[in-house]
Amino acid sequence: MHVFTTKKTLTNFLSERINSSFSIGFVPTMGAIHAGHISLIKNSINQNNITVVSIFVNPTQFDDQIDLEKYPKDLVNDVKLISLKVDADIVIYAPEVMDLYEENVSIETFDFRGIELLMEGKSRPGHFNGVATVVNKLFNIVKPHRAYFGEKDFQQLQIIRKLVKVRKISTLIIACPTVRELNGLAISSRNNRLSKYQKTRASKVYQILHQVKQKFNDDSIINITKWVEEQFKMDTLFKLEYFNICDISTFEQAVNIDLTKSYRAFIAVYVADIRLIDNIALN
Ligand code: PAF
Repeated sequence: MHVFTTKKTLTNFLSERINSSFSIGFVPTMGAIHAGHISLIKNSINQNNITVVSIFVNPTQFDDQIDLEKYPKDLVNDVKLISLKVDADIVIYAPEVMDLYEENVSIETFDFRGIELLMEGKSRPGHFNGVATVVNKLFNIVKPHRAYFGEKDFQQLQIIRKLVKVRKISTLIIACPTVRELNGLAISSRNNRLSKYQKTRASKVYQILHQVKQKFNDDSIINITKWVEEQFKMDTLFKLEYFNICDISTFEQAVNIDLTKSYRAFIAVYVADIRLIDNIALN
């Protein structure tokens, strides 16, 4: 395992190895490594000559300073966990803010055709511009052939697909399925903040999505949405923030179903003060 904390040492290392038949796979993370990240890393190892994992808590994607300060940072533990779970010689890039942003910790504004303003973008204003700003910087440094993103953050995945299009970046974006606990709960670094009881009960989020998928062919979107809202209203452990069925190319809420399009159901729910998101493909 090679750990670099500056872009200079990282690019020197990569440039010594690069040749026309050599491929770089890239997994951007904010650390707090879990089974979801490990699965992205393993996919990258299988498909590339070298895998670079970035560990960087990006300040420009947080609209809430307290959330940023609370974000877990433990590089030593993250490196240990990766080397334990992954049987390959990989590269870790864990820069300080100054190395990536230099003097200018500013956010770029992108035109993602409005999808950056809906759902996660509505709840967290500026979030996707911050994500795109840092991923664009990381792609410029690592120059990956392929980059791996989880479907758990499906809106982010679509934003990154739009980013490579608008910035004419040649990196192939590879979507990887959401990794789940045995009870269905989508794995996320936030799950560590759930108590054992909350974690068990939080499986309800996936169970509801699963039932939405079954209802999708037989019921109207209005009825399905009402049904979901009722399931959470009846249960005081949860507070539903949004539930939407969207066409994945626009992220607009679907009204009528056009089966030539792809739809997904998206959900954001609070369990106490812990915000969980999940989504499921419907057709
Ligand atoms: O999904 C994440 O962990 C982050 O949004 C990413 C893509 C690493 C950018 O900071």
